[in-house]
Amino acid sequence: MDTYAVFGHPVAHSKSPFIHAAFARQTGQALLYTAIEAPREGFRDAVMQFRAQGGKGANVTVPFKEEAYRLAGVLSERARLAQAVNTLRFEGAEIYGDNTDGAGLVQDLTVNLGVQLDGSRILILGAGGAARGAIPALLAQGPMRLTIANRTPQRADELAREFGALGLVAASGFDALAPEYDLIVNATSASLAGDLPPLPDAVLAGAQFAYDMMYGAAETPLLALARKLGCPRRADGLGMLVEQAAEAFFLWRGVRPQTQPVLTALRQQLQQA
Ligand code: ATR
Repeated sequence: MDTYAVFGHPVAHSKSPFIHAAFARQTGQALLYTAIEAPREGFRDAVMQFRAQGGKGANVTVPFKEEAYRLAGVLSERARLAQAVNTLRFEGAEIYGDNTDGAGLVQDLTVNLGVQLDGSRILILGAGGAARGAIPALLAQGPMRLTIANRTPQRADELAREFGALGLVAASGFDALAPEYDLIVNATSASLAGDLPPLPDAVLAGAQFAYDMMYGAAETPLLALARKLGCPRRADGLGMLVEQAAEAFFLWRGVRPQTQPVLTALRQQLQQA
């Protein structure tokens, strides 16, 4: 049977084995998908060992996405732009690296949530790896403009410069933001620590949609604040998780699974946990 795995550290709580098992059942694909915790300094060895044992492909999560980018011999355009790889495919002597995170975000926003990105004004919070994966995919949807706000302003400036050829991209400090955005996407890791990015309330209150790439059993701090401030539509990143997985599944198997039943099942699991 073809085998796949997600590599992370930690990885025990990864939902990817559940998601891919559900996709495989649904599409009648015979495959086995496990979670492998690689030591912090042992990502490359763990992947090479998995491949030597016949592994066909892998997903990569925190903290190994940049290392996976360096490991891949052939990179997709979107992996090159993100400088991070979340999906590896082993074929013959070659290791292909791709990044499906941005596509997963866009699919969740546009298809699952019905958000129109074309012509919209988007504010993205954060300038780390998560933002880097998201920005090119969002720009490809033709927003009127995309603004990057980051706690460390230089990192936002750098990203704005780097992606400026793909669309109208600006960088801003949090303090200077005005309430002029249709969509706010939180790509910071602040929620992990139960924190909020220092976004002025008026900016969040004035948005049509607040999206947090994080998710959990409880509402994320940003989404709780958005609700309190009257931001009418809000979503966490569980849909993005399922959609990035569906895109990886498609790269490996050439079949697109239906994501909605898997998303519903995961949401129920989260609420029962
Ligand atoms: P990731 O790959 O998850 O994006 P990262 O590359 O370490 O991780 O980036 C984390 C992002 O979250 C950065 O934009 C970081 O801001 P800085 O560049 O100023 O460090 C942001 N971040 C993390 N904790 C934050 C907090 N408490 N408030 C605001 N921004 C935060």
